[in-house]
Amino acid sequence: MAMECGIALPGLQGGAGHMMFGGVEVQCVRVRAGRTVAMAMQKLKRVQVQRADRMVHDLRMASATPLPLLRQVADALVEEMCAGLEREGGSEQLKMLPSYVENLPSGNEKGLFYAVDLGGTNFRVLRVSLGGKKGEVLSQEYKEVAIPRELMTGTGKDLFDFIADTLAKFVDTEDTSLEPNPDKTREAGFAFSFPVRQTSVKSGIVIHWTKGFKIDDAVGKDIVKQFQDAIGRSGHNVEISALVNDTVGTLAGGRYNFQEETMIGCILGTGTNACYVERADAVKKWKDPLPKSGEMVINLEWGNFRSPWLPRTFADEEVDNESVNPGDQWFEKMVSGMYLGEIVRHMLLKLAEEAALFGDTVPGKLRERHSLGTPCVSEMHADTSAELQVVAAVLHQNLGIQSTSLEQRRIVRDLCDMVGQRGGRLAAAGVYGLLKKIGRAGPHKNGFAMSRKKKKTVVAMDGGLYEHHLPYRKYMEEALHELVGRNGAYEVFLRLQNDGSGIGAALLAASHSRHTKP
Ligand code: BGC
Repeated sequence: MAMECGIALPGLQGGAGHMMFGGVEVQCVRVRAGRTVAMAMQKLKRVQVQRADRMVHDLRMASATPLPLLRQVADALVEEMCAGLEREGGSEQLKMLPSYVENLPSGNEKGLFYAVDLGGTNFRVLRVSLGGKKGEVLSQEYKEVAIPRELMTGTGKDLFDFIADTLAKFVDTEDTSLEPNPDKTREAGFAFSFPVRQTSVKSGIVIHWTKGFKIDDAVGKDIVKQFQDAIGRSGHNVEISALVNDTVGTLAGGRYNFQEETMIGCILGTGTNACYVERADAVKKWKDPLPKSGEMVINLEWGNFRSPWLPRTFADEEVDNESVNPGDQWFEKMVSGMYLGEIVRHMLLKLAEEAALFGDTVPGKLRERHSLGTPCVSEMHADTSAELQVVAAVLHQNLGIQSTSLEQRRIVRDLCDMVGQRGGRLAAAGVYGLLKKIGRAGPHKNGFAMSRKKKKTVVAMDGGLYEHHLPYRKYMEEALHELVGRNGAYEVFLRLQNDGSGIGAALLAASHSRHTKP
């Protein structure tokens, strides 16, 4: 018995092993008690894991995105799009903003152009040299700067002075050979990725902010004027010749690279949105003469889509309540990079509180907002190692949770998968809605014969989430193919248009330049 006790509990061997018989007896009683406690603990852990598994199962049901539901989501989106094209200001959910871009780049754009790309936590200044005829970007350089957090909720003047200064420094440090002729000013495209009611291709009124920005005094004012004034204060001469949403920039870049089959621009990054090429006569609210091209690029602002078909969970409600814009941007808050980490964090917190997933105490970091970023969720989601080592490392390093069991890590990975899958599939439903709206989904209008060649449609994609979160991207692509189906008359390609919004803004500055006409 003594031997058994010693072997069973290695830490007791030394001194205790040499004790008198009675002493050994005492040890054995302790060992038995220890084993009982250990077994009880194990049982408790099993019960906790089972409880957690049940909760995960319920969450999976609530977040499910089967094909019929995705079709309902797409149909609801089309309905809102139609309503938004009729009414000035858009429908309740979709603004459907005319971009004033009637002609997308032709490939003949030539010269040196700049772009300023403001859309998320970082902004970029770019210089692009366009080669003309062959549709070539000869060279491009850029500088990326993080926006100081306090400027995201400060005043318009502070934000634009900061951006104008960065642009000024970029221009000041360039080679003298790039200096324009005395009669020429530098021209820039401004990719401004927030809802704006455009009043021309180079002016527009800020409707409201998204993605954590909240600069009240800039709302209701012309954004280009605010920026142009700040450039003036910096003592530089750069003229904004095109104001574009990042989706429109991405579409323009897509046209430039992938030609006329590109009909849709879509961003999946910090935020999400899409734009597309619409027949100008379908834009009922358009009061000016119809553009000669017969087309108009429309910015949906789909982030604010709030259909009851969206499979929301308690975590989405929490994320919405804690945001700077509660009640708005439901689709964005379920699909985009700013929020996926937060959704998973809320789910983990609930599991920690109600199923003691991480033991008796709830890890403090789980209560801290933004302690789990979407890149971490993406890494955990992509962890295919047998022991889920990446999950372990993220839990440890980001949330301070040490020594997790494989079962616990499996639950965490399941949540990442669930949230990523839902986001990717909903994004696919959105794109499918746009394809339906432009008649590029399902059978061909004049009846589809299997032998007929399929028509190609390209969706130009940009944004860090789409670019880097590969399992998410895979879910999106799979769902889109399921939705479009094999027997349709159209083939759809999602194409990454790297740095789409910046290059696209420069391209649109070129096609709207007062110096160079393509
Ligand atoms: C903005 C859109 C933008 C999208 C992607 C959303 O929050 O409202 O204008 O296109 O983010 O950056």
